[in-house]
Amino acid sequence: MIFAEHAIKKELPVEEDLINDGASTDKFEGYAEPHSERIADLADRLAIQFNFAVRDRLMLKRAAYFHDFGELTMNRAYISSASELTEAERLDLFRHPVIGEQQASKRDLPRAVQLLVRWHHEWWNGSGYPDKLISKQIPLAARILRIADTYCALTSGRPFRAAFSPREADAYVAESAGIEFDPAVALALLDIPERIPSVVADTAETALDEGPGEE
Ligand SMILES: [Fe+2]
Repeated sequence: MIFAEHAIKKELPVEEDLINDGASTDKFEGYAEPHSERIADLADRLAIQFNFAVRDRLMLKRAAYFHDFGELTMNRAYISSASELTEAERLDLFRHPVIGEQQASKRDLPRAVQLLVRWHHEWWNGSGYPDKLISKQIPLAARILRIADTYCALTSGRPFRAAFSPREADAYVAESAGIEFDPAVALALLDIPERIPSVVADTAETALDEGPGEE
């Protein structure tokens, strides 16, 4: 089963420049491990569960690497700061999906990728941004990208906060089903074995033992 999944994944190479963009964004955001690569892998495993066509899986993987490129473009110091965001900074940050969409357009990435970048912060209950789409107005691929992004972010430490333990991350997903996440996608994620790579999980448990960092 595992070998079959890896065999499927090898059919989906993503362009090297997108992988490099993802790595640059990870570094800017303060992630120690390959955050965008984790998101791309987890999103693709979900896409396989939902029987995506190969073309749609590829669009989702590309968007996973490029989803926060708008933050890199904006290049604001507050993004990797330990301080809590001010209201003005929070509103400014809300622009990054649209700026990412514009950058994807400039790069001639397919419109499907552009829209996934635009909608990666839309919430199932309609309280996300930038368009406040609700439930199935949000394409399934964008709902998958939302949960993969959040799950990988929660389970990764950043300079200003410790990572959630696997148990805490799973609890967050369960509690947020129907709010931030499509309940069906949340259930599918919790069904994926080794949804946190063991090396990342070990780091999270160690960080937890050492106590939470500053939020
Ligand atoms: Fe984002």
